[in-house]
Amino acid sequence: MRLRCVVCAATYAALQVRYRCDCGATLDVVHDFPSDLSLAGFDARLASKAPLDRSGVWRFRELVAPLDEGVVATRREGNTGFYSSDRITKYVGASLRLKHEGENPTGSFKDRGMTVAVSVARQLGMTHVACASTGNTSASMAAYAAAAGMRALVFVPAGNVALGKLGQALAYGARTISISGDFDEAMRLVEQVCAKRDVYLVNSINPFRVEGQKAIAFELLQDLDWHVPDWIALPGGNLGNSSAIAKGLSELKTLGLIDRLPRLAVVQAAGANPLYTAWRTGADLVPVRAETRATAIRIGDPVSWRKCLRGLRETNGVVTEVNDQAILDAKAQVDAAGIGAEPASCATVAGVKRLVAEGVIPADADVCGVLTGHVLKDPKVVVDYHTDQLEGVTPSYPNPLVEVPADLDAVLRVVDNQA
Ligand code: F0G
Repeated sequence: MRLRCVVCAATYAALQVRYRCDCGATLDVVHDFPSDLSLAGFDARLASKAPLDRSGVWRFRELVAPLDEGVVATRREGNTGFYSSDRITKYVGASLRLKHEGENPTGSFKDRGMTVAVSVARQLGMTHVACASTGNTSASMAAYAAAAGMRALVFVPAGNVALGKLGQALAYGARTISISGDFDEAMRLVEQVCAKRDVYLVNSINPFRVEGQKAIAFELLQDLDWHVPDWIALPGGNLGNSSAIAKGLSELKTLGLIDRLPRLAVVQAAGANPLYTAWRTGADLVPVRAETRATAIRIGDPVSWRKCLRGLRETNGVVTEVNDQAILDAKAQVDAAGIGAEPASCATVAGVKRLVAEGVIPADADVCGVLTGHVLKDPKVVVDYHTDQLEGVTPSYPNPLVEVPADLDAVLRVVDNQA
């Protein structure tokens, strides 16, 4: 295992505190995979009670990071549900199965990367970890650090973190610093702080975070008995997750464990769409000032854009953008289907709907989507949507709160109307 620069291909020893090449670009983990890997071997672990086998990340450990078992900090990540619903199929115009990463221990896909980053931190003997976050990374880091007996330092953009996520960072005991700036500014600051202090950075610029997140793709395929779908759709913010899923799929194919790649569809919020612009124009990514109610993906200067564009090329992928109206209406549908997810997750569904309407995704395609975070992460946006309190968004599927005096007749009138 070693680190390799995505631009100049310089290599470095894997187990060291390093996030960038000397040339400044990001780094990949390059593996020396064992020659005896088999899908049946991964499947056999599903019946095991060993903690590593029970984790939906460490079950694939040879593909993720060969660490000493004693350093691994696992909370049985992954093992998330796969859902389909007639309501969603009708809404997007194609069969869309949703892998719900909000069912991870802290309610988002970040746990898959965090179990690896915190385990590497332990292996390196680090005692402090840090991240900048739109909320979910910090919730995940705070929990894993606490469980591993480490100190956690969180940088969040003031006023733009959903309540559930902020509550988690505080609850798990992270030192939480509210920066009067946006995520991109918090990200630049945390990188500088980690360079100056003995603190391990666990944002997805950390190449081991990406290795853990590859397991979304592994488990999704395992759920499908290793049948490769035509498309996998997911939201794009800092672009670690799309990079990870593309890398994992490409490694499976190189190893001969799958025979073709699904096409990736990365969905950005229209107010935070620098990847969409770069992909359409073929130019390098130009940062934007981001604005969207899907605060998880309110990111204008994504760290992993080169890796993501590489993954899009490899998978013949596409990028689309959807506005907040489309995201929140899609969310109302996902929620009303009994599945539920936070706004950024539902960009996936809005994006698939758009791509089907445009004929990019055929109506008979086999499409899988990733829901990235739990519905309870952002309860305020739910209430604001259903009570029509969101400026610039008109709820197409409102379910407003009904206020009634404590009087039986009045209550019955509402009950009978409802029926
Ligand atoms: N969905 C959710 C719910 C997220 O929290 C994030 C990222 C994304 C999608 C986008 O993933 O950044 O890998 O492209 N949240 C980060 C955070 C930035 O700090 O929690 P990405």
